[in-house]
Amino acid sequence: MLWISLDRAANSPLIQQVYMQIRKKILSGELMAAEKLPSTRQLADLLGISRNVVLEAYDQLLAEGFLVSKRGAGTFVAEGAYLPSGKSIAFQKVTNKEEVMSEPSIIQFRSGIPALDLFPRRIWGKLTQSICYEVEASAFNYDVPQGRPELREALSKYVKNARGIECHPEQIVITTGATQAFTLASKLLVSPGDELVIEDPITSDIQVIFTNHGAKLIPVPVDDSGIQTCLLPQDTKPAFVFVTPSHQFPLGGVLSIQRRVELIQYARKRNSYIVEDDYDSEFRYEGAPIPSLQGLAPDRVLYVGSFSKLLSPSLRLGYLILPPEFIDRGRKEKWFLDLHTPSLNQLVLARFIQEGHLERHLMKMRKSYKKKRDRLIDCLHDAFTGNESTWCIHRPASYR
Ligand SMILES: Cc1ncc(COP(=O)(O)O)c(C=O)c1O
Repeated sequence: MLWISLDRAANSPLIQQVYMQIRKKILSGELMAAEKLPSTRQLADLLGISRNVVLEAYDQLLAEGFLVSKRGAGTFVAEGAYLPSGKSIAFQKVTNKEEVMSEPSIIQFRSGIPALDLFPRRIWGKLTQSICYEVEASAFNYDVPQGRPELREALSKYVKNARGIECHPEQIVITTGATQAFTLASKLLVSPGDELVIEDPITSDIQVIFTNHGAKLIPVPVDDSGIQTCLLPQDTKPAFVFVTPSHQFPLGGVLSIQRRVELIQYARKRNSYIVEDDYDSEFRYEGAPIPSLQGLAPDRVLYVGSFSKLLSPSLRLGYLILPPEFIDRGRKEKWFLDLHTPSLNQLVLARFIQEGHLERHLMKMRKSYKKKRDRLIDCLHDAFTGNESTWCIHRPASYR
């Protein structure tokens, strides 16, 4: 639609104002060659002026060669009327690092990105379409900050079966990914100057979220069994301890049950909390799954889940499970952040879980990842055994 602002109190006549503004848009390139203009009637209606005013302005522009009229088709911007000012700002194209990495000759070793080629496009598309047709019009209105009841209901059952978590759907806040859940947890638990215990190493992104809330970070080293609880600081009361107990990020250790118990006791003794980031616990290839920390101490743990690793990070769907005393504040803080996470995607995910597609999708992902993992281990084994001076990696033929 053509946007023209008219000043009825100005000295210049309306015809002149319409003519000048269209002329300026053509010269500056805002209206481009071959672009169709609204009909004189449409523009007159839009601007609330007589059609004759628009007719005269168009006639003038046609006469000067800014516009061309095609019989039966309408009025168009003429070729060659754009005059570059030479002052345009050069915006740099932001290169997406995933674009660079998706070059076919490169094997992706970056962790934390699911197999995007396995995204269940057909089912997701079908569910999106049926939900769009079926839901009541109110689903397209502003929604509640804590998220759709359908999704919170489906999630409370899913986490109970998959992760041994006991929670009422009212304890769940749907977030825009785990990242927003970390922000929300910080808002609930951290005051400027508070200390937080984090695993060492952990991604800088997570550190930045916490320091942005004014927290001072106390890093505690991890080993194969997760955070070394014997090194937790004794002379302080951290606002919370942040852990990735199912699969330490980035080193991959699993927090042992002894350390889980020690961590919970540590938090209880200090009246502190634990923020449990369970970002990809569904993927295990060895040993029995270890239930969540939340299942052991629901009163002390704020549990963070994400669909970025199970389905796609572009969905931006995660959740935070809160001890009951934080429910009201959690909803308020979520409202302040972005009112609510988009409802349509939430409804699709709820249906995806309810109809058993998530379970089937996970089975498929596990199978595919296990195959890749086994293949990688075999290749590393082949390449790194024997004489160390001849170590070199060759890409297996089937991956070329
Ligand atoms: C440790 C960790 N937790 C969780 C996530 C998931 O974040 P989000 O759900 O916002 O995509 C990531 C993303 O890479 C991560 O590195």
